[in-house]
Amino acid sequence: MAKVNDHFLKLQAGYLFPEIGRRVAAFTEAHPDADVIRLGIGDVTEPLPAAIIEAMHGAVDEMANRDTFRGYGPEQGYPFLREAVAREAFAARGVDVSADEIFISDGSKCDTGNILDIFGADNIVAVTDPVYPVYVDTNVMTGRTGQALESGRYDGLVYLPVTAENNFVPALPEQPVDLIYLCYPNNPTGTVASRETLTEWVEYARAHDAIILFDAAYEAFITDPEIPHSIYEIEGGREVAIEFRSFSKNAGFTGIRCACTVIPRDLTGSDSAGNRVDIHRLWNRRHSTKFNGVSYPVQRGAEAAFGDEGREQVQSLVSFYLENARLIREGLEAVGITVYGGVNAPYAWLKTPGGIDSWSFFDQLLETVHLVGTPGSGFGAAGEGYFRLSAFNSRANVEEAVRRFQQLVG
Ligand code: MLT
Repeated sequence: MAKVNDHFLKLQAGYLFPEIGRRVAAFTEAHPDADVIRLGIGDVTEPLPAAIIEAMHGAVDEMANRDTFRGYGPEQGYPFLREAVAREAFAARGVDVSADEIFISDGSKCDTGNILDIFGADNIVAVTDPVYPVYVDTNVMTGRTGQALESGRYDGLVYLPVTAENNFVPALPEQPVDLIYLCYPNNPTGTVASRETLTEWVEYARAHDAIILFDAAYEAFITDPEIPHSIYEIEGGREVAIEFRSFSKNAGFTGIRCACTVIPRDLTGSDSAGNRVDIHRLWNRRHSTKFNGVSYPVQRGAEAAFGDEGREQVQSLVSFYLENARLIREGLEAVGITVYGGVNAPYAWLKTPGGIDSWSFFDQLLETVHLVGTPGSGFGAAGEGYFRLSAFNSRANVEEAVRRFQQLVG
């Protein structure tokens, strides 16, 4: 008898974004003429930067020629890209990460889920609430939680609420935890972590022999010079953290797929006999067994994001989306909505008007003004009463969305 992985049966309904897609599809089917504007999933809309397109075209041409054709590349990524990331994303900020500590992959969503392969099922896992749902669902799938509770939380996970009441700064856990997910700039709240906050977490992890899984997919959106871009800017960070980086939101790669995971050589965990084990070695083993690398043209495109022209073009894409975020934030504040985030991140996190629950507000926005956002409660119980708007869209759509929002609420 073929048995399924019972842990999958604990998962609640659908993954958040497909569920939103389902509701929007039902609405558009019933109202085919409605001009729906989607500020739900954080998916980029603007074309790839010219320098990236040129590099990818060049790479495809190489593949078209017997002399320059390439088959399988190194699973960990081509040295040209690993070196560019080490130099431009880290050394340029004074951060010590070497090229061979960088693993190129097809996305941070995949990496933050896959990383669990190398950690024991008996680790106690802490997540913020609200949280990017991938962290929770992949822990459910791999058997690190009990059943879903009525609140929507899972037994066995340690939830650290981040709400306006604590200024979106998660308190250190009251019980010891082994794996801690932190995402900064934060998805979904759009808030950032100060150097002091990150220092506390690094110190916590050192004191408790814990590992921080630091998702920095949105670091390019940081505008405040005081905010760290990398957990490795914090002393001791290399000993306790894995960092995830992505080309999705800054370089427009959500459909192209390229990201990287950094595993410092200093990072160790413990085996069940208490011996120290090199995490880099385990991940290298896992990555090269289950993954055959990102395609050559995509890696050439990613490399171009760090060239002189590419960097400028990527920066202008980031600035474009940040300006959208500003328009959303200020447009909503103008009609009395309380808005968080949206300054160092492409997400605005708002209090639903009149304290209406998140999904009811989702339905109301969709049905009355044909706007799609993401209900805060979809990211966790503590997200109830909040709502996320993504700044990833054309300027015209963002301006129109703000007008419609003001019409509904104002
Ligand atoms: C989001 O909307 O939260 C993101 O687009 C999800 C993702 O990056 O996978």
